[in-house]
Amino acid sequence: MVATAALIIAFVVVAGAVVLVAMSGGPGKAREKLLHRQSNSANRGSGLAITIVIALFGIAIPAVAMVGNNDKKEAKGGVELTSAQKNGREVFAQLCSTCHSLSASNAVGRVGPNLDQLRPPKELTLNAIQMGRARGLGQMPSGLVDGEDAEDVADYIAAVAGR
Ligand code: HEC
Repeated sequence: MVATAALIIAFVVVAGAVVLVAMSGGPGKAREKLLHRQSNSANRGSGLAITIVIALFGIAIPAVAMVGNNDKKEAKGGVELTSAQKNGREVFAQLCSTCHSLSASNAVGRVGPNLDQLRPPKELTLNAIQMGRARGLGQMPSGLVDGEDAEDVADYIAAVAGR
């Protein structure tokens, strides 16, 4: 958040400086230049500066916002994630989202059950990961992930499912 604010302030300062320069070189000097010689190159210069500022606002700020989003602690529904659950969110994105729907991860997989509806407790998810599932809906391979990552993803799902 602090970094984002600092960047935005920096852009505002840059934009303000460009406007000031454009204005100070503006009416008076522009008229002078027009009387003496063509000021095309000067116009082109400030046009370029304005284009750069617009590009910064248009690209840099959304980029920063997106990066910030990936890192944000809060999941959908105002759930504060622990760092373990944040790791679980990454595991989920890599290994589970292709088959399962979970709105907190923007996952829309339709092979397995919708986890927002199922809202599996941690133990059920861990069991599904360990044993796999093949009861007719389709197949979930066993052992997609183990150890700490398995704990984290089960924890994450239990925290956010149905939100
Ligand atoms: C290849 C597709 C696929 C992937 C990848 C996958 N699943 Fe599944 N999952 C399924 C299917 C299909 C079922 C339902 C199986 C059944 O009913 O027999 C299922 C069932 C489940 C269940 C419910 C178990 C129960 O007993 O009701 C949970 C929880 C679950 N998966 C979690 C996960 C997690 C966590 C991951 C990632 C580590 C994951 N799944 C990855 C296909 C998948």
